[in-house]
Amino acid sequence: MPERSDARMDAKTQRLVLATKNPGKVLELKEILRHLPIEVVACSDYPGIPDVVEDGETFEENAIKKAQAVARATGEIALADDSGLEVDALGGRPGVHSARFREGVYSSGSERDKANYEKLLSLLEGVEEAKRTARFRCVVALSDPSGRTRLAEGVCEGRIAFAPLGSGGFGYDPVFIPSGHSKTFAALPQDVKNAMSHRALALKAAIPHIKEVFRL
Ligand code: IMP
Repeated sequence: MPERSDARMDAKTQRLVLATKNPGKVLELKEILRHLPIEVVACSDYPGIPDVVEDGETFEENAIKKAQAVARATGEIALADDSGLEVDALGGRPGVHSARFREGVYSSGSERDKANYEKLLSLLEGVEEAKRTARFRCVVALSDPSGRTRLAEGVCEGRIAFAPLGSGGFGYDPVFIPSGHSKTFAALPQDVKNAMSHRALALKAAIPHIKEVFRL
C-alpha cells in the first residue's frame, strides 16, 4: 500500500484514490483529472480494501458510503461515484436500482446489461416518443479520512429509444438517446459520450471541491 501520513501534503505527492474497481471508469475519471497536479490512483492498488455494499436508497447515500469507506481504509482522500438511469414514465425507475433492474443470475456483465434494457423496453411498450424522457444522473462524493465529505452532481438528459442501437458503451447505452442527438450513446463515438456524460459533468462539478481539499 502506498505510504502517506498526512492527508494534506505538497501538490506533487498528493494522492486521490478512486473508489471504483471498474477499469473503464478509472480510465474515464483519470482522463478528466489529468490536468490537476495530483496523483490519481485506483483503489485496486490497495490490496485488502473491503467491497462496499451499495444498499442506499439514493445515489448520494451510496457514493458517500463508498468514498468514506475507501478514505478510511487508505488514509487518503477518496472519490466515489454512483449513477443510474431515471425514466419519467416509470416514476424515476430504475434509478438507484439500475444495475440490478432485472433480477437474475448472469454469466457476464453484458448479459445483465441486455436483460436490464430489454426489461426497460418492455415496460415502455406503447409509450409514445414524447413521453419517453429520461436522464442519467451521477453523484460524486469526495471524502477525507476523517469522514468529511463534499458532493457534486451531473445530469445527462435524453429519451429512451424504441429499440436498441449500437455496440459501444455499457449498461443502458444501447437504448439511451442523449438530447440533441438522434442516435443512442452506444452508437455515438465514445468521445461524444465522454464530453457530455453524467459522470463527466459530475466530476467537472467536483473539481472546485478537489482543488479546495488539496489546496491547489
Ligand atoms: P454505477 O453504480 O455508477 O456503476 O451504475 C449503476 C448502473 O447504472 C450501471 O450498472 C448501469 O446499468 C447504469 N449506468 C450508469 N452509468 C451508465 C452509463 O454511462 N451508460 C449506461 N448505463 C449506465
